Amino acid sequence: MKGRGKSQARSGASRKPEAQARRVVVARPTGFCFGVERAIGLAKTGKRQFGRVSTLGELVHNPLVLDELAREGIRSVRRAEQAGEGALVIRAHGCPPQALAECERRRIAVIDATCPYVRKVQNVAGRLKDQGYTVVVVGERNHPEVKSILGYCGRRGRVYSPRMRLARGKVGVVAQTTMSRERLREAVANLSRFRYTELRVFDTICEEVAARQLAAARVAQQVDLVIVVGGRSSANSSRLAEIARNAGTQVVFVERAAELPLSAIARTGRVGVVAGSSTPSRVVREIVDIVRNPAKEDRFNAS
Ligand code: F3S
Repeated sequence: MKGRGKSQARSGASRKPEAQARRVVVARPTGFCFGVERAIGLAKTGKRQFGRVSTLGELVHNPLVLDELAREGIRSVRRAEQAGEGALVIRAHGCPPQALAECERRRIAVIDATCPYVRKVQNVAGRLKDQGYTVVVVGERNHPEVKSILGYCGRRGRVYSPRMRLARGKVGVVAQTTMSRERLREAVANLSRFRYTELRVFDTICEEVAARQLAAARVAQQVDLVIVVGGRSSANSSRLAEIARNAGTQVVFVERAAELPLSAIARTGRVGVVAGSSTPSRVVREIVDIVRNPAKEDRFNAS
């Protein structure tokens, strides 16, 4: 149905929102995923229990959520030794075991909010390492989740790159939870050029992430413009944008409603909205409302 959507005339004569409502296709699910909801809940509970909590790195990759937490007195520190009094929250992305050992050495109370799905990847990677496999992590080298997984691989961990070289031996592959299945398939196909003695592949992609990716691809097929709502440093939101772009659809990436490109939206017939797993539902609702209802757009145009 792409290319069919035409700009809707927005004459100033008729201002009835119902009459001008634009069709918006929302990719489900939206709102926090289980792991993000859990991490935020644990941090807030910890604040009540300990009086003071810090998070080791940003709890989630969404500035709006971080601002809200900061208003409640929950801020991030870069290193365990900066935690001071109270408790230190390990974020949903997890952390290397060395960081946990450092907390123990310093007697820092730890609230472990590592998402159980990330924990599973850490455990699989650790087992592969113990069994003598080279562990290849398909993911983003500098992402905190990948760093946390590598921490469980000792000297046997490698981050996948198309140009990587592997010595003969046993190879185990795991994926960052936010990877796309297409990228994992490509990586495994590329690794088949090596003469390893054994290859084991673990699809550790989070099902929630996979569901959002599938929904993003479907929505991108039905609309002329996809609005991806998420934090700019959010890996899963970036992946959703990539998937929508690969479908040949125009994509805009926003963190909040004020960033909406209203004139582009006004020229577009059908608009899709997809959201990352750390994007608050209220932000998605606000954006859908604005895109759907030109009367609200006017509010921004006037400012
Ligand atoms: Fe966990 Fe999946 Fe969310 S890995 S943090 S439930 S996207």
